[in-house]
Amino acid sequence: MPITTAPSERSARIERIAACFDSRWHQGYARGKLRHDPVFDDAVEWARRAGLAEGGLLDAGCGLGLLALWLRAHDVDLPVRGIDPDPKKITAARAAAGRGGLRGVSFETTDARDAIATFSGSVFLLDVLHYLPLADRDRVLERAAAAAPPGAIIYIRNGLRDRGWRHRFTRMEEWFVRHSGWIPTRKFRLPDAAEITRHFPPDAFEPDTRPLWGHTPFNSHRFAFVRRR
Ligand SMILES: C[S@@+](CC[C@H](N)C(=O)[O-])C[C@H]1O[C@@H](n2cnc3c(N)ncnc32)[C@H](O)[C@@H]1O
Repeated sequence: MPITTAPSERSARIERIAACFDSRWHQGYARGKLRHDPVFDDAVEWARRAGLAEGGLLDAGCGLGLLALWLRAHDVDLPVRGIDPDPKKITAARAAAGRGGLRGVSFETTDARDAIATFSGSVFLLDVLHYLPLADRDRVLERAAAAAPPGAIIYIRNGLRDRGWRHRFTRMEEWFVRHSGWIPTRKFRLPDAAEITRHFPPDAFEPDTRPLWGHTPFNSHRFAFVRRR
């Protein structure tokens, strides 16, 4: 069911989350993302559904832990394991979760390629896949699909490679993100839709995909795959 929070309550939740961060930059980033990126509201709906399956939720490439904070702000209480290779982001995520009094949430400095090897549950990848080389991305998605228990959800939001102007805009943004140092990685490769969907055959997974760019100019799409029971 879509989120129907009153605008004033929604703003109050965003302010409470922003206040969990020490640095003004992180506070502003949290505000901007939660206000303007539709992925967080959408993910709340899918995480609620994932809570009915075993295994909890792996937030692979969790950054500052905004997904966990937003889920708890909406009383979605499945266990969340956030991982990210950037130790500074994990330190900030841990501090924010502590300040916000989050329970059942952990954060570790780990790469998605390592974390996925031992995880069985729902896997959420929000704007992360394109930082992995194609072969590694294939391995991560294959493993997530193979280890998903019945009812678990593999949720992917990513910019896509296609022929449209949004794709070109997304590439420009990625150039900026890398050169600003916010994501310390040298390469990225936006996936095309088939590079994602081919790992989730319809006889084993119920797919639900749609554009999810909100008011942004980016070529963001969301793929949710529910493991059939
Ligand atoms: C655009 S940010 C998105 C952060 C978070 N998912 C969100 O939506 O707020 C991409 C994140 O992917 C992380 N990342 C990059 N390479 C990764 C990898 N190999 N495994 C896991 N995370 C990775 C980056 O450190 C960064 O925090």
